[in-house]
Amino acid sequence: MSVPVLVAEASRRAERLGFTASCEDPAGPMLAVLAAAVPRNGRILELGTGSGVGTAWLVSGLTDRDDVTVTTVELDADLVKAVSEASWPSFVTFVEGDAGEVLPTLGRFDLIFADAVAGKWTGLELTLNALAPGAVLLVDDMSPALYPDPEHQAIVRRVERSLADDPRLISVRIPAGTHLTLATRRY
Ligand SMILES: C[S@@+](CC[C@H](N)C(=O)[O-])C[C@H]1O[C@@H](n2cnc3c(N)ncnc32)[C@H](O)[C@@H]1O
Repeated sequence: MSVPVLVAEASRRAERLGFTASCEDPAGPMLAVLAAAVPRNGRILELGTGSGVGTAWLVSGLTDRDDVTVTTVELDADLVKAVSEASWPSFVTFVEGDAGEVLPTLGRFDLIFADAVAGKWTGLELTLNALAPGAVLLVDDMSPALYPDPEHQAIVRRVERSLADDPRLISVRIPAGTHLTLATRRY
């Protein structure tokens, strides 16, 4: 997939801001593919906006659709300001706050990209509770080898086990890029 204009803009923003944690291939293009499959009037949530690269990939999958909403939550007020000043479709909402606090207030979603500390390394259950039946969850940065700290490696393994063993989910590990786990919440 070629790089959509919005993604290129967000990547330039990341460079300008010195933000180095944007999603990489294949996570980015996968977000576009998964967004395109969201059902009519569906809802998409991203935890951790960063500089907007993931948001831009999600939006790129929604060409010609205005029935879907995208909500993205970010703790860092400066990032929220920088990203939300750019031009986005009206169905994108930027929420400034701690995903751990905000998540229980947002309702259920058809696609969640869990890419912040909260809702992934802590409070995974909040994210699972926010998956509608049939919803898809993408979790990035799942390779323990990414983290020098053995405690964080243990957290990654615990999250991986939780996703694999949860009877509400069917999941697959994708050992590409920073390693992904893709899960569907069963009906
Ligand atoms: C890996 S980056 C997100 C990258 C972005 N999703 C993308 O695809 O380009 C993680 C982001 O989560 C934010 N973050 C960390 N803890 C958070 C929390 N508790 N609630 C919301 N955002 C948080 C960080 O400030 C950072 O911008």
